[in-house]
Amino acid sequence: MGRALIIGAGGVASVVVHKCCQNPEVFEEICIASRTLSKCDALKQKLEGGKTKIQTAQLDADNVDETIALINKFKPDIVINVALPYQDLAIMDACLATGVHYLDTANYEPRDTAKFEYKWQWAYREKFEKAGITAVLGCGFDPGVTGVFSAYAMKHYFDEIHYIDILDANAGDHGYPFATNFNPEINIREVTAKGSYIENGKWVETEPLEIKRVYNFPEIGEKNIYLLHHEELESLALNIKGVKRIRFWMTFSDNYLTHLRVLQNVGMTSIEPIEYEGKQIVPLQFLKAVLPDPASLGPRTKGKTNIGCIFQGVKDGKTLNYYVYNVCTHEECYAEVGSQAISYTTGVPAMIGAAMVLTGKWKKPGVYNVEEFDPDPFMDALNKFGLPWKESFSPELVD
Ligand SMILES: NC(=O)c1ccc[n+]([C@@H]2O[C@H](COP(=O)([O-])OP(=O)(O)OC[C@H]3O[C@@H](n4cnc5c(N)ncnc54)[C@H](OP(=O)(O)O)[C@@H]3O)[C@@H](O)[C@H]2O)c1
Repeated sequence: MGRALIIGAGGVASVVVHKCCQNPEVFEEICIASRTLSKCDALKQKLEGGKTKIQTAQLDADNVDETIALINKFKPDIVINVALPYQDLAIMDACLATGVHYLDTANYEPRDTAKFEYKWQWAYREKFEKAGITAVLGCGFDPGVTGVFSAYAMKHYFDEIHYIDILDANAGDHGYPFATNFNPEINIREVTAKGSYIENGKWVETEPLEIKRVYNFPEIGEKNIYLLHHEELESLALNIKGVKRIRFWMTFSDNYLTHLRVLQNVGMTSIEPIEYEGKQIVPLQFLKAVLPDPASLGPRTKGKTNIGCIFQGVKDGKTLNYYVYNVCTHEECYAEVGSQAISYTTGVPAMIGAAMVLTGKWKKPGVYNVEEFDPDPFMDALNKFGLPWKESFSPELVD
């Protein structure tokens, strides 16, 4: 049916490639393109021989002309961007120049400011509409499935949703004193940024990790959760009409936070370049180089993740609470695709989103966040491709 150009060959890309190969009716041919060709070739070697044909290419996706040339050569129907958020706009420009659909899992960030906002990508709405191509933004788990869950709750259960709490728990243990589950630079930028939530249409800002609660997660148990800024708050506030408050919570162990605090105190998480032996280096990028590669955590990580959304609202004049979530086991993800659950829970939705576009279910010219599409076929596909979801109508609430 279609051809996908997958940009990036890291932890998430590896899962996307595995999952495209599990769905060969939709993904007849894929090209894995990234900065380091050997990583693309290693993935090809692992997966070729099945029904999905695989090519590889070396690509610096910061260079729009290079991406345009590769698109013209491979002729994909969609580009799945699972490189880093810094490349989003350059890849969107290449898609516009060639008339190819686009999908990513994280919103654009300038390298020199840790600022998570959709404004840069939303500015492309009219251009994509005029070009007759679809851009799906933020189609991982959070953002991604959390937006699909929101659209599903709105479509099937509520007349109005007033409160949304997004809860992301990782109870996995990789055995290292300190490591991040996805790209360390992106992860640490996210966690050390100020927290924020949306209340009555306005952003409320907090100090980093200032607000803490304890939540008893199904299948995981009690964990400390911390309020973080997260990109889907911005799009959900626009797309879920009548919502009064949206918060995002993530679990962190005391051990993780102690290490992070020390690294922060000594300046290792800074994104300001410093001079070292006549060379400019960014401390956070240096830290990334010494930390374990997230892709190497797969065989070591044990335990479960639980990511979901609690909705509070009204149906037929009565108040209603609804919790929808997915539980993943790190070991099972590793046994299936050779990656831990964090990459798995991001890569599966990226493949499903691309399949939604290629099969015409989510095809509409413009730039959209996932909650703006019909959630039903995506929810079915989550069950089919390894992220089954569960529901509760009497969840514990976050105060
Ligand atoms: N929505 C969600 O739920 C969610 C969750 C987790 C992660 N994410 C997002 O998923 C994306 C991938 O994360 P990851 O953990 O897979 O990261 P990763 O392991 O660091 O992989 C990133 C890949 O992108 C490649 N790359 C970087 N710059 C490039 C460039 N200029 N041109 C071509 N390729 C380039 C890297 O190449 P090298 O191998 O040469 O370094 C690497 O293969 C990130 O944007 C992250 O924010 C989303």
